[in-house]
Amino acid sequence: MEFRQAQSADYPRVIAVINEWWGGRPMADMLPKLFFDHFGDTSYVVDHDGELAAFLIGFVSQSQPDEAYVHFVGVNPAHRQAGLAQAMYQRFFANVQARGCRVVRCVTSPVNKTSIAFHTRIGFEIDAGDALVDGVAVTSNYDGRGHDRVRFTYHLAGGGSAS
Ligand SMILES: CC(C)(COP(=O)(O)OP(=O)(O)OC[C@H]1O[C@@H](n2cnc3c(N)ncnc32)[C@H](O)[C@@H]1OP(=O)(O)O)[C@@H](O)C(=O)NCCC(=O)NCCS
Repeated sequence: MEFRQAQSADYPRVIAVINEWWGGRPMADMLPKLFFDHFGDTSYVVDHDGELAAFLIGFVSQSQPDEAYVHFVGVNPAHRQAGLAQAMYQRFFANVQARGCRVVRCVTSPVNKTSIAFHTRIGFEIDAGDALVDGVAVTSNYDGRGHDRVRFTYHLAGGGSAS
């Protein structure tokens, strides 16, 4: 597995597989090329035998400089449960901590049970919400009407599995 920072040229490879990797959900429109053009040095791509194995798209918050945010993390179904996503997060945590961040945030849809299990497992806490879905706290209408989200926080300074 070859880990490296993302580049603009990676965009077509990622966008070609993203909907399939998300089980057919239409995700491509939520990941425009600007993330590869402007956040490549805090984003990662993993290649395996010339094929895309995984990617993580994240950045340091311009409005909250001590916070970082992960917008997308995806692993090729053929390479899941092998530690790839956690390994990308470890690189991201170290990267943004060196840039002065103390907190990493991300959100996911309440239907994405895999994402909830994964993020909880690697040390993210679920933020308080205003409703419960299958016992998980969610924030109603967080991304607009009808778009509830589970919000996660990881404290870099406090340690954890990947700090
Ligand atoms: C979520 C996802 C990124 C996890 O990637 P991965 O490389 O398989 O995860 P890892 O192997 O690094 O797993 C890290 C830990 O999370 C756990 N985990 C991963 N997937 C899990 C699942 N489906 N259910 C329960 N636990 C899971 C692993 O067991 C591991 O814990 P361990 O150290 O105790 O063994 C991957 O399943 C994926 O790409 N899903 C589709 C896209 C998506 O939903 N992305 C997240 C929202 S942006």
